[in-house]
Amino acid sequence: MDSSSPNVVSLMSLKGKVAVVTGGARGLGYEMMRALAESGASVACIDLLAESGAEAVAKIESECGVKATSWGCDVTNDEEVAMLFDQIVQQHGGLDILVTAAGINNVCPAIDYTADTFRKIFDVNVSGTFFCMQQAAKHMIRLGTGGSIITIASMSAHITNRPQCHAPYNATKAAVLQLTKSLACEWAPHHIRVTAISPGYFDTAMNRAVLAQQGEEGTKMRDIWEANTPMGRMGVPHELKGVVTFLASDAASFVTGSEILVDGGYTAW
Ligand SMILES: NC(=O)c1ccc[n+]([C@@H]2O[C@H](COP(=O)([O-])OP(=O)(O)OC[C@H]3O[C@@H](n4cnc5c(N)ncnc54)[C@H](O)[C@@H]3O)[C@@H](O)[C@H]2O)c1
Repeated sequence: MDSSSPNVVSLMSLKGKVAVVTGGARGLGYEMMRALAESGASVACIDLLAESGAEAVAKIESECGVKATSWGCDVTNDEEVAMLFDQIVQQHGGLDILVTAAGINNVCPAIDYTADTFRKIFDVNVSGTFFCMQQAAKHMIRLGTGGSIITIASMSAHITNRPQCHAPYNATKAAVLQLTKSLACEWAPHHIRVTAISPGYFDTAMNRAVLAQQGEEGTKMRDIWEANTPMGRMGVPHELKGVVTFLASDAASFVTGSEILVDGGYTAW
């Protein structure tokens, strides 16, 4: 037995770590935040939905036995984001992990997209992601602790979804993926790993809204999504828990600048 080989279960533990999750009030962000808490990290949720965020962290705190705090904030507000990160680091005593799940979508033919809606989706998905990454890295560098930053891109960074149109959303996710790679290179000397998770179709409020917007056609659209997925179904949010825990942990110590697609095989066809 090689005594220099660390035990893999210990490597996966996040005991004593501090994690910030944006968009943690519901959906994929909530499940990932819960996974980090179940693995031992104290968690801070940043979300526009302050009330849902507070309920989410109360549930996590009582069920996972870790400190969990909620911060109502719009991630596009760079000054507020900077202030919040300062306060979170002070209250939690450090910062080791960031997951950027806050994001929006808007299904609309490109011809009809308004300039305001286009700017808004880039502001939330790209600028908001960048501001949070920047603040997390600033603290990790100042504290000299390094850390793990995990962005939530999408399979839409690689493929064009069908039958619905949301070209600007797809472009924002390609931008998130490139930010992930560029910042992984820039911050590697500071022992900060930057990686991306790219989900396929998951059953969340975001996708339920997309389907509801189509009325009766929504059922057909869901069937098309599932038929185009080799596994023949949408993902369940808890199916991101293992991946996010792995990327956050020391088990991924040589993983940076890369992406894990969790899409039931959608992009393999
Ligand atoms: N659901 C999917 O199939 C899927 C697929 C690929 C990628 N994604 C990405 O995963 C992430 C989470 O998606 P979801 O399906 O859980 O969506 P969701 O709508 O259920 O959750 C998104 C969360 O982000 C928050 N949020 C939105 N704008 C914000 C802002 N400006 N500031 C702070 N918080 C804000 C919302 O309040 C919400 O709690 C998104 O980035 C999405 O693009 C989702």
